[in-house]
Amino acid sequence: MEINNETILVMDFGGQYTQLIARRVRECNVFCEIKPYTISAEEIAKRGYKGIIFTGGPNSAYDDNGPKCDPKLFELKIPVLGICYGAQLMAQTLGGRVEGDNENKEYGKTEVEFNTSSLMFHSAQKNNIVWMSHTDRIEEIPHGFKVTAISKDCPVAAMEDVTRNFFAVQFHPEVQHTVEGTLYLKNFLYNACGCKADWKMDSFVEETIEYLREKIGNKKVLCALSGGVDSSVAAVLVHRAVGKQLTCIFVDHGLLRKDEGDNVEKVFREQFDMNLIRVNAQERFLSKLAGVSDPERKRKIIGEEFIRVFEEESKKLGKIEFLCQGTIYPDVVESGAGQSAVIKSHHNVGGLPEDVGFEGIIEPLRDLFKDEVRKVGTELKIPDFLVWRQPFPGPGLAIRIMGDITEEKLDILKDADAIMREEFANAGLDKTVNQYFAVMTGIKSVGVMGDGRTYDNTIALRAVTTGDFMTADWARVPYDVLEKISNRIINEVRCVNRVVYDITSKPPATIEWE
Ligand code: XMP
Repeated sequence: MEINNETILVMDFGGQYTQLIARRVRECNVFCEIKPYTISAEEIAKRGYKGIIFTGGPNSAYDDNGPKCDPKLFELKIPVLGICYGAQLMAQTLGGRVEGDNENKEYGKTEVEFNTSSLMFHSAQKNNIVWMSHTDRIEEIPHGFKVTAISKDCPVAAMEDVTRNFFAVQFHPEVQHTVEGTLYLKNFLYNACGCKADWKMDSFVEETIEYLREKIGNKKVLCALSGGVDSSVAAVLVHRAVGKQLTCIFVDHGLLRKDEGDNVEKVFREQFDMNLIRVNAQERFLSKLAGVSDPERKRKIIGEEFIRVFEEESKKLGKIEFLCQGTIYPDVVESGAGQSAVIKSHHNVGGLPEDVGFEGIIEPLRDLFKDEVRKVGTELKIPDFLVWRQPFPGPGLAIRIMGDITEEKLDILKDADAIMREEFANAGLDKTVNQYFAVMTGIKSVGVMGDGRTYDNTIALRAVTTGDFMTADWARVPYDVLEKISNRIINEVRCVNRVVYDITSKPPATIEWE
């Protein structure tokens, strides 16, 4: 993507908080990009960044094999802020000394004393709490620097050289526990880098549209629309840029929630007047899935079939130069393109093969986080039900039906799930519970209805609160809401005689049942 005229470079050394740093910078109304630490000084100069932030990382700055920056970047007259490993790397590169110190390592909330006449801590409180996480520490500061913060176990909690505009903090200003972290970052961004803080989501929208117009020219773009937030926002952005040069293919595998396919179609066809091809492929998917019970096999079949349908449809359209994808920043990290050590396996139906024969891939959301994508979506006037859609797995309801899938089971689950969603919305729980759905457990049990014995299906309700979906807690849903959902499912959905609530956290359970 073309650079905004006030962009900060976040240089990734493999730290856990890289994304968080980028997000905090944007919250200060300054645009930023994350790049691997291998970026050269030449490239940095060419792209005209207003400032550079070095992230933390798991290595030691004195280790010859650890990640290093191009030392020439210190000659570019661009302000640099080093955080944690980044601070140590700056010290080591500029002639200071870093040492391992197993005796005095600091982890967690730490009290620090600041020099409030420094640039970085200007108008901050003299004593405050920060978040530390380090074993190594700076023992000797480089020539030209002065110490601007100390803690009990860290003689250089921060240092700066205002003449050259170099700053370093041993702690993490980006995490919430660092009480005045945002103020320190603002001091760097506004007072050292001279950023005007005029970047907002609408600037992102305008700049991206302009960039897309230039890149696409009069060529054609294809997008696989899933109805999820990311692909919807990406498609609308491209559509705003090049209108009917974009064609969207919406493969409806029949495993979506009740009425979802129709609602998605309505928005994109009627509200946005897009070239939309909806492929109703339920029968095709169900016949491939017939008799298959193994969860991973189900995922694989759906993924492969999805690609096949997409390929068939796109071939019918003749030559299309670009493929648009709704990749967002966490996807880039998860797929291993970032430097971070933690890589989650990603299993999404939208993953298309690279060699479908396109000239290029367009990923307008590649630098954004989920909540930022939502802001863009709202800016683009995409309806709330799409922008605030809870996560929904690519393989859809197939992994919420235990065992093999039949049309009958699908219909039962869709109806039960719709009731749950309606009652969650009525109780306002849709705003606080991060993911909730019904599961067709595959268990039949005995019941009594009227005067007769029944032997019917058990529906489980799953609702979790979570920030990152890597860990989750079961939601403390009020009993009266559960009661209402249970009564309605038993009364309104055929072939269900028992409803249970899942009270397992993740770990040990996962959020989905398969
Ligand atoms: P689990 O069940 O692993 O889910 O705790 C974590 C999050 O990932 C979603 N999920 C999937 N998303 N394809 C997807 O696109 C999948 O195969 C898949 N499996 C789980 C799940 O809904 C939750 O938000």
